[in-house]
Amino acid sequence: MDKKISVKVCLGTTCFVMGSSNLQELIETVPRKYGDQVEVTGVPCLGLCSIDWEFSKAPYVKVDDEVIKEATVEKVLSAIEAKIRK
Ligand code: FES
Repeated sequence: MDKKISVKVCLGTTCFVMGSSNLQELIETVPRKYGDQVEVTGVPCLGLCSIDWEFSKAPYVKVDDEVIKEATVEKVLSAIEAKIRK
């Protein structure tokens, strides 16, 4: 595999309030676990909260093109695992 998996943790206001602050630990733990196979960054509002707001599915994380709703550390890690195994 030569392409890095990109993980974008939304740190926009809505996601932050809905718990993405807990996801910031991924920014440290994921590189420790997967080295440079995966790149985790915190990003400003992904624009998903305004589309999907009535369903309240924040916080959002993107793993490559896949949107993870109501993201938790566990969900993000299993999405990464699924991609690495491909
Ligand atoms: S604040 Fe996260 S998608 Fe808008």
